[in-house]
Amino acid sequence: MDPITYERLAATLADMDREWSTEAQRIFYLAVPPWMFEAIPIKLSEVGLASRKQTRLVVEKPIGSDLESAKAVNRTLTQAFHESQIFRIDHYLGKETVQNILAFRFANPLFEPLWNRNYINHVAITVAEQVGVEHRGRYYEKAGALRDMIQNHLLQLVSLIAMEPPVSFAADEIRNKKVDVLRAIRPMVPDKISTCAVRGQYRAGEINGQRVCAYREEPDVDPNSRTETFAALELSLDNWRWHDVPFYLRTGKRLPVRASEIVIQFCRVPHRAFPPEAASDFQPVRLILSIQPFEGIVLKFHAKQPGRSMHLRSVDMRFGYQENFETPSPDAYETLLRDVLVNDPTQFKRADEVEAAWIAVMPVLQAWAATPPDDFPNYAAGTWGPKAAEELLARSGRQWFPPLAVKASIVPP
Ligand code: BG6
Repeated sequence: MDPITYERLAATLADMDREWSTEAQRIFYLAVPPWMFEAIPIKLSEVGLASRKQTRLVVEKPIGSDLESAKAVNRTLTQAFHESQIFRIDHYLGKETVQNILAFRFANPLFEPLWNRNYINHVAITVAEQVGVEHRGRYYEKAGALRDMIQNHLLQLVSLIAMEPPVSFAADEIRNKKVDVLRAIRPMVPDKISTCAVRGQYRAGEINGQRVCAYREEPDVDPNSRTETFAALELSLDNWRWHDVPFYLRTGKRLPVRASEIVIQFCRVPHRAFPPEAASDFQPVRLILSIQPFEGIVLKFHAKQPGRSMHLRSVDMRFGYQENFETPSPDAYETLLRDVLVNDPTQFKRADEVEAAWIAVMPVLQAWAATPPDDFPNYAAGTWGPKAAEELLARSGRQWFPPLAVKASIVPP
């Protein structure tokens, strides 16, 4: 943080420009602890390193730990650099399967007419991890699942699923449509948080036959920690398309499998002409956009089981990246760093997007801070989180379905 360092950096870069007889494009990449966000952009700007229009500043999360601190970070960044120079990374946006959401929705006429409250019963997003906090206890203790995953990755998935069709693929057009979704999230009422938000923390348990320790026994974690390693929310969007369609989100560490999936559950047909025995194992029609580890899409629908009687069974129509494309999907960071190089900000978050996501989760953060959990740890490692997460859906007769990855047959070897 020594000011001399920045002056030396500026001098070195100027020397290089002279040597190369060009004005080189400069990209500064900040993957630094949050407190450094305040200083580095300002110092870069003070020595003149922010002034070239084509200079870019890449910023890793966390952008703040709540709305106020996020605003402060954004203020500092935009004091030093123009918003168009700032690339806020969310690595989920670099995943092929996430980018494919827009292709699937807006390049095919098939589902978009159904993509609304008239045909969709609810949307359920699961981002499950098998890993614990690994070596990141110090960071995670201050973050927890809501800040670490929901405020960014899961809300980005919500906005891609729920956004209106863009007029063009211009970066700001896409981002405007996404931010509209975040702004439509109905503010959660402080004294009703317990009915729409669930938190959990893992105790010791077993994953893949291996014993794993409790969160409170992980390195750099307080033995009495109240940090949540699991979070689930029910969100409502106040707009015409999604009125009364709940969006359920869940994420957690030390869950039984690694799986990120978006499940679109369609409404039942208005009238079922089949006799009850025809659909004795009736399963709702679901479209599953699987982000990882299986990369693809599965439509679960009804078919007549072969035989003389009319018996319905749920069957799969399936698209997998691996079977359809010869080239393997690039790593999310590879894609995003290329976008930075070619100056395409479409898959990066604007300041207003980050702040709108914080606004959405603030009531939960505040309610949880005001009432520390008295039941932690409340789920065993290797299970699907606390019971209350099941109840969140069960109250309205819904349920979480096990991700595709639970059926080992669908996971590529
Ligand atoms: C990061 C979180 O942003 O995403 C980690 O900080 C998490 O806690 C990771 O493990 C998950 O990313 P992926 O790509 O493995 O789903």
